[in-house]
Formats: sequence, C-alpha cells, structure tokens
Amino acid sequence: MAEHPGLFVTFEGGEGAGKSTQIRRLADRLRRAGHDVLVTREPGGSPGAEAVRHVLLSGAAEEFGVRMEAMLFAAARNDHVEEVIRPALESGAIVLCDRFIDSSRVYQGVTGNLETDFIEALQRVAIDRVVPDCTLILDLPAETGLGRARRRAADAAPDRFEREEIETHEKRREAYLEIAEAEPQRCRVVNAERAEDEIADEVYAIIEPLINRSGAPEPTETENAE
Ligand SMILES: Nc1ncnc2c1ncn2[C@@H]1O[C@H](COP(=O)(O)OP(=O)(O)OP(=O)(O)O)[C@@H](O)[C@H]1O
Ligand SMILES: [Mg+2]
Repeated sequence: MAEHPGLFVTFEGGEGAGKSTQIRRLADRLRRAGHDVLVTREPGGSPGAEAVRHVLLSGAAEEFGVRMEAMLFAAARNDHVEEVIRPALESGAIVLCDRFIDSSRVYQGVTGNLETDFIEALQRVAIDRVVPDCTLILDLPAETGLGRARRRAADAAPDRFEREEIETHEKRREAYLEIAEAEPQRCRVVNAERAEDEIADEVYAIIEPLINRSGAPEPTETENAE
C-alpha cells in the first residue's frame, strides 16, 4: 500500500525501446484529463543527480569499476527521490519516471556481475520505501531498439551503455522479463515493437484505472447519499 496520495509510475526497457516517447504521450494525455503530472528521469532528475549523471554517462567512472558506478547511481537516486519524487507524490501528483530501480538491477546487477545483496542494499538506502506503484517494461529485441536509438542520434557519439555488445543488450532484455515475472503485482510487460499509437493506448489503459485507487479524492459517502 502506497504511503502517499500520488501515483508513481516508472518506465523501463533497453535503449530505444520508446520510454521517452511513451512518457511524453502519457503525460500529455493525463494532463489533458486534468491530472497533475511530473515527468522525470534517471540517472538525473534533480540538480545533484544531474551532476552525477554527467559523470556516469560520459564513462568517467567506468575505470573505477562497477561497484563505484552502482554507488554513484544510488547516490543520484537518493537525491532524486528526496528532492523531487517524494515531495511530488506527497502533493498527490502522478510521477512518471524514465528508468528507476529496475535499470540498476539490470544494468549493474545482471550485466555488471554485482551481487544481488549488494544491489538490493543500495536500493533500500537510495529509495527509502518510495517503491513504484506500477512499472511498465517496454519489451523489444535489442537489435530493434539499438537501431532506433542510433537513427535518433545519427550524429551523436554512443554513450557508455550504448557502446556495449548486442549480446549484452539481449541479456538485459531477459533480465527485465525475469523481474516482471518475479513481481507481477508491480510490473507490466508492454510489447514495444508495435506502432507508437498502439503502445500509447495500452499504456493509458494500464495506468488510468490506477489513478483513483492511488488516493485522488473520491466523493465521500455523505455526498453520494440520497
Ligand atoms: N513504436 C515505435 N516505433 C518506431 N519508432 C519508435 C517507436 N517509439 C519510439 N520510436 C523512435 O525510436 C527512437 C527511440 O525512442 P525513445 O527515445 O522514446 O526511446 P528510449 O527508450 O527513451 O531510448 P533511450 O533508452 O536511448 O533513452 C526515437 O527516435 C523514437 O522516435
Ligand atoms: Mg529515452
């Protein structure tokens, strides 16, 4: 049970899966329906976390090893949670976050070969009970996602994570699907190989029913009484 009146939704999946696209579309739709929506992203989302994002994505921390990277991600996440996400949820907003704990589990945990206990301990400290109410895992073959991401940034150099082998990207896809299987209450897998519109409709159909349950004020009994 959430400890706040807001709704916390995270978007996960590999590079080019369509997370940013779908967040933008869902945010527009929810705002048009009159909801208070906050869009944010990881790594980053708050000034402290954005500073760390730069270090992580440039690859500057890579030479210090995956433990160092994982701890930097956790430091950034804690700043983001305490400065941005928790206050928004406490004010009753719908928070849409581009990547969150599952990215750490998949990127640092699975393909970085870090022990699960270490990752989970870091997560506990980083999020301090701010667990997503719903996580949408946008699923598609690594090749398709990377192709999309490369077309999008034809002239930009690939970042630290995009440079890795296709096989690594496929392992991450499997890891996301395992998380979804282990936590079916929180996670929903969305087939991201389809047209943007079709995906957007499914995403909305998953999230919309969660809104009232998340604590948005319902009419009181007395108001309803005849
Ligand atoms: N369903 C879709 N079909 C085809 N192309 C798409 C679809 N969704 C998004 N795209 C395009 O693919 C590219 C990547 O999409 P987007 O940036 O939303 O992915 P992402 O998951 O946020 O990627 P990253 O992890 O790199 O941030 C963009 O150019 C976008 O316009
Ligand atoms: Mg994106």
